[in-house]
Amino acid sequence: MLAFPASAFAQKSDPNMGIIPAPVSVDKGKGVFKFTSETIVMVDSPNHKAMRFFAEYLRKSNLALSVTDMSSLDKKKVNTNKTIMLSLNFKGDLPPEGYELKITENNIELKGRGAGMFYGIQTLIQLMEKGSIGDATIPCGTIKDYPRFSYRGMHLDVSRHFFDVAFVKKYIDVMAMYKLNNFHWHLTDDQGWRIEIKKYPKLTEVGSKRAQTKIGRAAGPTSVADLYDNTPHGGFYTQQEVSEIVDYATARYINVIPEIELPGHSLAALAAYPEWSCDAAKTYKVGETWGVYDDAFCPTEQTFNALYDILREVMELFPSKYIHIGGDECNKVSWKKSQFCRELIAEQKLKNEEGLQSYFIGKIEKFVNNQGRQIIGWDEILEGGLAPNATVMSWRGEKGGIAAAQLGHDVIMTPGSGGLYFDHTQSKSSQEPLSIGGFAPLEKAYNYDPIPSVLNEAQQKRVIGVQANLWTEYIATTGKAEYMLLPRMLSLSETAWTPKDKKDYKNFSEQRIPRHLLLLDQAGYNYRVPVPLGAGDSVLKGNKFRIELLPPVTGAKIYYTIDGHEPTENDMVYTAPVDFTVPERNTIIFKSIAITASGKRSIVNTVKMEN
Ligand code: ACM
Repeated sequence: MLAFPASAFAQKSDPNMGIIPAPVSVDKGKGVFKFTSETIVMVDSPNHKAMRFFAEYLRKSNLALSVTDMSSLDKKKVNTNKTIMLSLNFKGDLPPEGYELKITENNIELKGRGAGMFYGIQTLIQLMEKGSIGDATIPCGTIKDYPRFSYRGMHLDVSRHFFDVAFVKKYIDVMAMYKLNNFHWHLTDDQGWRIEIKKYPKLTEVGSKRAQTKIGRAAGPTSVADLYDNTPHGGFYTQQEVSEIVDYATARYINVIPEIELPGHSLAALAAYPEWSCDAAKTYKVGETWGVYDDAFCPTEQTFNALYDILREVMELFPSKYIHIGGDECNKVSWKKSQFCRELIAEQKLKNEEGLQSYFIGKIEKFVNNQGRQIIGWDEILEGGLAPNATVMSWRGEKGGIAAAQLGHDVIMTPGSGGLYFDHTQSKSSQEPLSIGGFAPLEKAYNYDPIPSVLNEAQQKRVIGVQANLWTEYIATTGKAEYMLLPRMLSLSETAWTPKDKKDYKNFSEQRIPRHLLLLDQAGYNYRVPVPLGAGDSVLKGNKFRIELLPPVTGAKIYYTIDGHEPTENDMVYTAPVDFTVPERNTIIFKSIAITASGKRSIVNTVKMEN
């Protein structure tokens, strides 16, 4: 029996030229463009921000090329045989965010406007084979490209664990490499308030610090007997740092959407200002464990005025059209106990506490709309009636998104059921690091289609995009954040960008991912090393087997054992397919591990061959 067909790994030429996300169209040419000492990079708009980004990239690369303003050249004297020409001023139209890139042995031509030029540059950078003048090359071909969705988002929770400015920039860098364009920054929650608000300094003085953090898996905030780490955790961004990050993202065509959670997930704020709760006499402390707490902002005039003040400062800092106001998982316990809330429900003729949540969001939306912005909320904002102009993020499956699209609202799909919760585990192996649970392997986000088939054509247009979320209850370090993010973010990228009929998981995971993981390694990112390609935890029945594997990362080595012990770099190196004959009533246990050139290790994979 042939367990792993050889044809599966014929890793010949890649029709997508190794580009992630796969472009709309790739027409491969013959030969390569070679960088020589005569190569000139010419641009027609040197002050355009995409051009400035490319000039900076070249300056830092080992190609030592500089960018020349075309208008400064005597065109008749330029040897157009050796040029890389980037133009914004060209005739004709391209789709929004689109670009065209033509590479021949003689020259390279990139056309695009705005973000399109930036994405063309990202593709060009991906195509460059690392090297110096004299040996660096780019394979010939013509690429026409534009995104499937206008909203391509990646979220980061900095409340449950704080991540510093340098890491946030690194996160933005990798989003830009993969053509994502919205960074959803989850800045406030029960366990920490992370943005300086000048009018309310206690939000960060008190609300950005917790005394300790629960160890291990969540059992909810009521399980007081659990262990805590006895270590304070805290951190916040000054307004100056926020602006620095917004500028950094803007230079990379990434919009930053701040999330200020309300009315629930607000314990850190209530610890700082108990007067914004429904029981100001109670003592609140910044959350030390996970789950949903009972307390929420109380819908009083005082609270609304404070939230308006906060949102005013937030909107000063973030030019984003969208302001995310949370809205998820608001426990109504404190509202149910409150005489004030009961009276407000009666006075406003609301049905119940769901109606009150809707009233709350509606007032906030009106304020945000009056400042010329729009709100995004998690799908709970549908409950009790949706605010008139809200965009809905569908996270509890697609139901909320479908309902919102049917009501004529814009929708961003980000369901856990679509593999878009990157805090979920990447394999079912006990060797994976601690996570919140769930199961979201690389292929799940890849195979997710953000457009539900139950929507009609007009409703489908309401699905403006897709996002993945990185919640950080169980992610305390940057290394683990990158491990959970990568390579799954590359699946998100292709789901968000590439036309549905061009997606091909086999091509993605076997031909393109290995090279990109090497590139990410060289760029200093951690990631989850996939198990050797062709392996998979499995039990095979029969007597003859061939095990045929490929490294999941370019340059990685595969080591294996056949006696059941855990392989390390001291075991056999896989170099060619291995054949096995299993005696009757016997089992051979084949265990393999991939170890990259930089020393990153996959989990150990086990295949049992039973006769
Ligand atoms: C969420 O995951 N609570 C939006």
